[in-house]
Amino acid sequence: MQRLDKYLSDAGVGSRRELKELLRAGSVTVNGIVVQDGAAKLDEAADVVCLRGERVEGLRRVVLLLYKPAGLVTSTDDPRDRTVMDILPERWKKQKVAPVGRLDKATEGLLLLTNDGILAHRLISPKYRIEKDYYAEHEGEAGPEDAAAFRAGLVLSDGTRCLPAKLEPLGPGKSRVTVVEGKYHQVRRMLASRQMPVTYLRRDREGGLTLAGLKPGEVRELTAEEIAALDRVTGMPNAAR
Ligand code: URA
Repeated sequence: MQRLDKYLSDAGVGSRRELKELLRAGSVTVNGIVVQDGAAKLDEAADVVCLRGERVEGLRRVVLLLYKPAGLVTSTDDPRDRTVMDILPERWKKQKVAPVGRLDKATEGLLLLTNDGILAHRLISPKYRIEKDYYAEHEGEAGPEDAAAFRAGLVLSDGTRCLPAKLEPLGPGKSRVTVVEGKYHQVRRMLASRQMPVTYLRRDREGGLTLAGLKPGEVRELTAEEIAALDRVTGMPNAAR
């Protein structure tokens, strides 16, 4: 149960003052009946709230999986570039989702977005060891010494220490890299540190999630089961066991 004014405010339909006015003016209905008292209690799962006849969706926990195309920046707002938010359907923008971590402008692939800040933080944190797989095209060819250096934990040119990672050579100029952290330009810098500058990078997997069924630019909402699995692997306090 939730207060009507809180529900409307979370849905971002107006400031506190505006909401008071709208309620007083009789512009808000719950299940078709005008309600003027902001303190009225709602059952968010069952009650239908409308403002001037239009349905107001309350905030609910949402996790989205976007196949990020190259050319967009991973940010909620940018003065110059188009962002990943620009290609999200309006109904999800209203849920106030934000990207989980960051893919570079030139990088494609799997990007999660959520309005659950705690889950986002845990998915990024190396503490929970969530694996991220990248397919990279690069100059040169990776060999067993490179794989061993990744396993041991690379030290980048500025002294940054990386956690042990996996490098799987896929033939000349192609590799799969698996990391459990997300430092700035990490995979590009890791490969560059072994004289293999990256020409193309795509994230294919994060934890148990992949890009299967999506084309670049497409997005889908995770199912309750997929969210429950993320909750389990990140030890979220509400995780179902
Ligand atoms: N590593 C990078 O270098 N770039 C990305 O976008 C993601 C991981």
